[in-house]
Amino acid sequence: MFCDIDRVLIPADRIAQRVRELAGQITRDHVEPNLPADSQITIVPILTGAMIFCADLIREMPVRMKIGLLSVSSYPGTSTASTGPTLQANSLGEIRGRHVLLVDDILDSGETIKMIVPLLKDSGAATVKTCVLLRKDRPSARAVKADYIGFDIPDEFVVGYGLDYDNYYRNLPDIVTLRREILDRTGSELLKSTV
Ligand code: IMP
Ligand code: MG
Repeated sequence: MFCDIDRVLIPADRIAQRVRELAGQITRDHVEPNLPADSQITIVPILTGAMIFCADLIREMPVRMKIGLLSVSSYPGTSTASTGPTLQANSLGEIRGRHVLLVDDILDSGETIKMIVPLLKDSGAATVKTCVLLRKDRPSARAVKADYIGFDIPDEFVVGYGLDYDNYYRNLPDIVTLRREILDRTGSELLKSTV
């Protein structure tokens, strides 16, 4: 698996440091006087990509919270260009009146957040905020508002720390790019479009 890596974009220690900073910022924004003391917070990671980020984030947040789950797929199989998000499963629990923090791994086309935020608001959430670990340097990503952003990265396909290619590489501790042959081998749409 490690020989498939092209280069390390963000090493694990930098991720850990930034996750702690984000958690501190979010915690400050979610305690008095910003929200009432009895405020009801639900953290919603978008599966599967946000699983590892969210697990680390919430363990740095000494806040009473519930967790709701949403499963969305945008890059089925070996595609490295978004085919548009589809909601696969929903085990959110009741979010009516609750302050929801949506957590995603990466802001790319922005379509996932654009689809999910209205859905949460329509379900009666009191507020909906968004937190992404990564934001790609592309107009569509910058056009979508995220309340908390970990890192701005180049517009490249990345894996690791939860992010996948064909559902592999999620367990890499760093955020990395893959060697071209790995993506080429399975006919990456991204490479076809950028070569
Ligand atoms: P968006 O809806 O295009 O903003 O993309 C959201 C989803 O696409 C993310 O939650 C990821 O699961 C996936 N995605 C986008 N870019 C990448 C990437 O570079 N590597 C792996 N997954 C990605
Ligand atoms: Mg995802």
